Amino acid sequence: MSSLNRRSALSLGVALGLAGVAGAAPAWAWSPAGSVAGTGTGTDPWWVWDDEVDALMAGILDTGQVPAVNTALRSWVDNGDPLPGGLPAGLATYLQRVDQLPSWADRAKLRRAADFNRRKDTYLFMLYGLGSGIMSTVIPREARAVYWSAGGADMKDRAAKTFTFGYDLSDLNAFEPGGQFVVSATKTRLVHAAVRHLLPQSPHWQAAADEQIPISNGDILITFHSLGTFVHRKLIEWKVPLSAADEDAFLHLWQVAIHLLGVRDEFIPKTWADADAQSTQVLTPLLAPTAEGKELAEDLLGLTAQADLGVTRGFLNEFVRYVLSDEVGDWLGLRRDYAAAALIRAGWPAYIAFREGLLPVAPAGFFMFDQFIRALAMLFLNNATSPTTTPITIPTGNRPG
Ligand code: HEM
Repeated sequence: MSSLNRRSALSLGVALGLAGVAGAAPAWAWSPAGSVAGTGTGTDPWWVWDDEVDALMAGILDTGQVPAVNTALRSWVDNGDPLPGGLPAGLATYLQRVDQLPSWADRAKLRRAADFNRRKDTYLFMLYGLGSGIMSTVIPREARAVYWSAGGADMKDRAAKTFTFGYDLSDLNAFEPGGQFVVSATKTRLVHAAVRHLLPQSPHWQAAADEQIPISNGDILITFHSLGTFVHRKLIEWKVPLSAADEDAFLHLWQVAIHLLGVRDEFIPKTWADADAQSTQVLTPLLAPTAEGKELAEDLLGLTAQADLGVTRGFLNEFVRYVLSDEVGDWLGLRRDYAAAALIRAGWPAYIAFREGLLPVAPAGFFMFDQFIRALAMLFLNNATSPTTTPITIPTGNRPG
């Protein structure tokens, strides 16, 4: 890498609040000593998928049973619901076994995380939506997988399903019998297994992708860093007061979530320091623009701009640039609005300081920022809870072309 590229790569890592050098090859050099398992074989997660459910879903897809499975799964919503009847025997046995918290889950921490999510919800919705959501479009493997799968053709529907996942995760009862997250995560695990069988059959994905089977454990870890690790770093960078117990609980929530999505315990970081170290190795090096990602970002920002957030599209573009860096903004071709950029640079830190009780007087622009993040949160909540929201369902094909 030239020194110029190295410098801009370093600044990208810094801008995202994530250490790491973009452009370097992602070799797996992370020690399982830093994992929740505490030990492991040192296996490379790029070559680990979810063998048992992948084989089950391949069989279910090939024998045309997906519509019947989706119908059966519709009534399965709350964590405490019994498994529905009408499922193929192998799938029912599998779900019975995986649809539960890992032995190392700490319910007290999960309850604290749920409370933390509620206390910081507006920042979280904004960071997940405009930060992680748009970052996913510059993670090439994820962007291509999403674009060429069935869901890529209808981003509104897909975004609503993803919101459902985030909403269930953020709910106060997320992990309790009356909550829904364990079921949502398990259904997502089935969707990912189906995608692993379907996408390799897409000639478009084959032509674009640099891998043969998508959504490895390594890919899921990257997405976790673009969500949990990224949001944690941003909250610290923005000086949002966080107690050590809150930070720990927020990590725990994500540890359990990615376990439920099929990531092996030997890859799941034990502490934020371990997560940061892993993110440095696997996320930042992989960020890059793709044609698919650009289109997805435009779809997502277009959908967001349609809602009444009280701000212009130029402001939205600049907010994404502020959160994710100008480099990412340039990759995605986000039109500049220098007045909005100046307003955000000066106003956002003051807004947070006032909101968190660290400034005695409301700064200029307070109400505009306040309306913006509240409206974003409402957009998120309405999409996740509206009766028209499509529940997470297993796809039967890919994007047509
Ligand atoms: C589907 C969440 C990682 C690609 C889904 C769904 C959710 C979800 C909730 C169901 C909603 C839907 O059907 O659109 C997550 C989370 C992840 C993760 C929380 C990690 C923490 C990944 C990765 C990839 C990926 C790493 C690809 C590299 C897809 C695709 C679909 C999907 C292609 C199906 C879209 C469709 O055709 O409907 N994911 N995902 N996901 N995910 Fe993930």
